[in-house]
Amino acid sequence: MTELLDGLGRPIHDLRISVTDRCNFRCTYCMPREVFDNHKFLPRKELLSFEEIERLVRLFAGLGVRKLRLTGGEPLVRNDLESLIERLANIDGIDDIAMTSNVSLMTAARAQSLRDAGLARINVSLDAMDDATFKAINDVDVSVQQVLDGIGHCAAADYDEIKINMVVKKGLNEHSILPMARFFKGTGQILRFIEFMDVGNANGWVPEEVFTAAEIVEMINAELPIEPTDANYSGEVAKRWSYSDGGGEVGVIASVSEPFCGGCHRARLSAVGQLFTCLFASFGHDLRTPLREDTSDKEILARLENIWQNRNDRYSEVRASLVGTPIKKVEMSYIGG
Ligand code: GTP
Ligand code: 5AD
Ligand code: SF4
Ligand code: SF4
Repeated sequence: MTELLDGLGRPIHDLRISVTDRCNFRCTYCMPREVFDNHKFLPRKELLSFEEIERLVRLFAGLGVRKLRLTGGEPLVRNDLESLIERLANIDGIDDIAMTSNVSLMTAARAQSLRDAGLARINVSLDAMDDATFKAINDVDVSVQQVLDGIGHCAAADYDEIKINMVVKKGLNEHSILPMARFFKGTGQILRFIEFMDVGNANGWVPEEVFTAAEIVEMINAELPIEPTDANYSGEVAKRWSYSDGGGEVGVIASVSEPFCGGCHRARLSAVGQLFTCLFASFGHDLRTPLREDTSDKEILARLENIWQNRNDRYSEVRASLVGTPIKKVEMSYIGG
């Protein structure tokens, strides 16, 4: 099989699958209450069934997808994820299944059953170490301890990797950078700092509120010396930094100040079966209709190939030239980050 490449020569390697647009948090930078309290969430019958997701993933695997990530909203609000993971883990070619979650709903039993089903890695969203800041961000009164408990359950279930994602927004939580770094240093759980991004149209993003990767690194390095480390694989989203004293590493995801579109081999599938070829896309390609219209695998494959071959997305690289231009973009909670 010749390798499938997009218009900029990039292969398809990762598929991020949103299993729900709902979340039990209302993070102010993602699902602000002013917008999401009156939001119509997707009715259940609109969502892809697990059988439909499995069929699509089988086809994607034939095109080169090796790595899957379940996202939401919050994936744990959907029951029976275990049966989806089991199905996906059995697909030829899929060699990594991960999930991004706020883990506030993670129990010990759930962490174990997801692990047993084949979930290998978990990325946890946590934006502060103090309740006042964290609750002001999640806006649903979930405490830091609840998330730490969720992380503890994952650690007990022996996941291959647990990473912690902290979104840094200037004026909101840069004071939490060092407390987070101190807490996770030496735990083996890799903390990553994410620049506040202009995903969607709901979060009121302005460039002045980006606390940049350079500022983050400078702040950490002043107290806890760090040095740059090679990427684990080409196209890795986070830049890695190791503590000079051997206390592990942190990552910085600089989508705004140092875009990484050149190595972007990720596609995103929404909960209703739309395929997005960029996190900042205005629209997705409908795959649910063909799935429900008795379309053959061959025809769906041809559609997927066509979508990928026509892909030219590099939003983060051209962002600066677009500031001020109104563009309709998909919301983070709909597409899973
Ligand atoms: P692993 O490297 O497999 O652990 O996954 P990851 O870092 O891609 O996953 P995660 O869901 O933890 O993503 C971390 C942050 O990076 C999130 O805020 C994502 O929205 C952001 N991110 C991931 N992929 C992209 C991308 O293609 N473009 C942009 N701009 N941001 C991305
Ligand atoms: N900018 C940067 N990261 C964001 N996330 C959600 N919204 C934003 C934003 N506007 C993060 C979440 C989660 C990951 C999938 O994306 O905190 O860790
Ligand atoms: Fe917060 Fe993630 Fe939920 Fe968005 S999807 S509100 S970032 S927990
Ligand atoms: Fe990929 Fe779009 Fe992110 Fe660039 S902005 S890395 S093309 S998802």
